[in-house]
Amino acid sequence: MPQQSLIIKHYYKATLVNNVTNRRLILTTSYVTRCKVVSLTLRRKHSLGNQQIPVSKQKRVALGNHEINSLTLSQKRDILALDTDNNTLKFPTIWLRDNCQCPACFQRHSQSRTIDWGKFDFGVKPLSAKLVESELTIEWSDNHRSNFTLDWLIERSFTEEKRKLFRNKIYRFERTTWGADEFGKYLKKFDYKSVLNEDSTLLNWLESLTKYGVAIVTNVPAKNNSNKILTERVAFTRRTHYGEEFTVIAKDGTTNVAYLSSTLPLHTDLPYYHYAPGANLLHCLVQSQGKGGESQLADGFHVGNYLKLHEPESYKILTKTLVDWSDVGHENGDHFHSLHQAPVLCEDEFGDLVRVNFSQPQRDSHFNAPLEQVILWYEAVGLFTKLLYSPENNVTFKLAEGDILTFDNLRLVHGRSAYADTTGRERLLIGCYLDWDEIYSRIRVLRKQLKRSKEMN
Ligand code: OGA
Ligand code: ZN
Ligand code: ZN
Repeated sequence: MPQQSLIIKHYYKATLVNNVTNRRLILTTSYVTRCKVVSLTLRRKHSLGNQQIPVSKQKRVALGNHEINSLTLSQKRDILALDTDNNTLKFPTIWLRDNCQCPACFQRHSQSRTIDWGKFDFGVKPLSAKLVESELTIEWSDNHRSNFTLDWLIERSFTEEKRKLFRNKIYRFERTTWGADEFGKYLKKFDYKSVLNEDSTLLNWLESLTKYGVAIVTNVPAKNNSNKILTERVAFTRRTHYGEEFTVIAKDGTTNVAYLSSTLPLHTDLPYYHYAPGANLLHCLVQSQGKGGESQLADGFHVGNYLKLHEPESYKILTKTLVDWSDVGHENGDHFHSLHQAPVLCEDEFGDLVRVNFSQPQRDSHFNAPLEQVILWYEAVGLFTKLLYSPENNVTFKLAEGDILTFDNLRLVHGRSAYADTTGRERLLIGCYLDWDEIYSRIRVLRKQLKRSKEMN
């Protein structure tokens, strides 16, 4: 076995924790006068166990709000640990090598890793690690050296708390689910012009849409392209087989039941798409007079979470039974036959709800589930439906002309009451979709930009 060495540099004074004499360690110290760094070189022939050098109490290294007491490499040299007063931050050494920030491994301009994995040594190990001021330097067995700032490291810490924070604040954003009582408090309105002209209003609208699943944009010009202009302020319109925009108007011989003036029961749009449109934007250009034409909403995640808590068996069936969602028809001469198998309630790998599929007209009569499960599914979906329609969960309001109702199509179910057109006044809505990928991306960019401009002022 070749002689291995481990170099640890740290502040001023150091003591070895292990009894090293039996393990044939040679210990050298050298002073770097400018910043009072002590360098320790440990040479070894055999395994040493975890090697830990505490940093002297008076001269500890600051790491964010914490202070580093020691730096440790595990016996297999696959984990590097930084001990702080109340935490140990551990990093897989292979991850550190993979994420080397030097210009040969990471291109700053494109913010991309450029290490060639075809040539990467997956058995790479640190030969030494040292901490000087707020920088960690590692010498690697593949003749490479990496430097990491402590701020960069702490932001990427592998603690459960830190990973959760990233997931809820940057990857996804926290949601507040609601029942009918809370709806009025959470429904926010945003002026169209202000959304188009001010980044802070754009961000507020998108954050509200993300958090509560619904928001209204008001004072929208009565033009057919107003909705598209709004989606393009965020990113680009999500096209479907109904086109970039769809017109909701009562018409004879329609291929979609939404284009009738009868009641449109609660549903999510286009559940038959594997990649279903994320957010729905409905611009009301002409509203029906008198009663009817009212919008109906319920928070599918709120009701789903209620089932999870109070009716776990029904919840389980709704999350596990694959349902065949379908749409057969034609639009502008183009025929389509879309199919997607997915449960009514879809969870992510953490058990959080991420999508509701719900549409009576767009559910296929093919049902690829075992017989007994189908019977149980009808019971469970019956309960879910009853709850969605119950007054505690269901809200009804009428859009005004010039409103764009924006809502999360993967979370909320929506519907409309029947209406009657009067001569010369036909109810008219123009709808568009946006993908969540684009909305999240815009939110992240705006948060960074606005924070930066606030800091500069
Ligand atoms: C739809 C729809 C709502 C309305 O077209 O899918 O939900 O108010 N329309 O007409
Ligand atoms: Zn590098
Ligand atoms: Zn709809």
